[in-house]
Amino acid sequence: MKTDALIRLDNLRKSYYVGKHELEILQGISLEIHEGEFLAILGPSGSGKSTLMNILGMIDRPTSGTYTFNGKMISFEDDFKLAGLRNKAIGFIFQKFNLLPKFNALENVEMPLLIRGYARNEARPHAVEQLEAVGLADRMKHKPMELSGGQQQRVAIARALVGKPAVLLADEPTGNLDSKSEADVMKLFKELNSKGITIILITHSEDVAREADRIVVIRDGKICDTHSPHHF
Ligand SMILES: Nc1ncnc2c1ncn2[C@@H]1O[C@H](COP(=O)(O)OP(=O)(O)O)[C@@H](O)[C@H]1O
Ligand SMILES: [Mg+2]
Repeated sequence: MKTDALIRLDNLRKSYYVGKHELEILQGISLEIHEGEFLAILGPSGSGKSTLMNILGMIDRPTSGTYTFNGKMISFEDDFKLAGLRNKAIGFIFQKFNLLPKFNALENVEMPLLIRGYARNEARPHAVEQLEAVGLADRMKHKPMELSGGQQQRVAIARALVGKPAVLLADEPTGNLDSKSEADVMKLFKELNSKGITIILITHSEDVAREADRIVVIRDGKICDTHSPHHF
């Protein structure tokens, strides 16, 4: 199927078996996301947002349906190839930051490049650049515990960006933040998006979703609405 979208999902389904019962978590999601877009996926808790995010992020596989990335249909069978594509194409940001507690900000941000096979001295200048870009030039040697929630999330954003991914996937990125830090993080997303990075933001908050260019509403594993942020 031809598409010029960066990401295309066709009738994506995901179910789990709990005992003998099949639980249908995603019930046929079809969606196109274009390069440079800032998309919010909005839905209540339990609607399947994280399940969808994990498939978009290639860390989980659908039960059926197809996922086309950059014009190529993804085969979820080849774990090794999938991991390689994920490492290059996707930057993740989570609600709980998921930083490594024993490593300082710089070391956390270097990590994806080390995994990719860079030597530390090759990785370091990229990590420094990203930490500067998120406004943390003066916090590079701090460990996560020595940073505020908002600062930790900015380290996580720098880590997500250091490999120059095509897409930034953020699952409830402001869920653990106070309103000031939430505003800072949303402002940073807007800046990054204006520089060209595609952002997919998952949230249960209408206020957060409103910052995006397009909002897809998900309920019970189905897309039930798509609209512009002026709708609310
Ligand atoms: N591994 C699993 N096995 C069974 N059910 C699951 C599993 N993971 C998630 N679910 C169920 O899928 C539904 C959607 O979960 P999730 O995608 O985390 O929703 P959201 O992120 O929108 O809150 C929930 O009802 C959850 O209990
Ligand atoms: Mg979730």
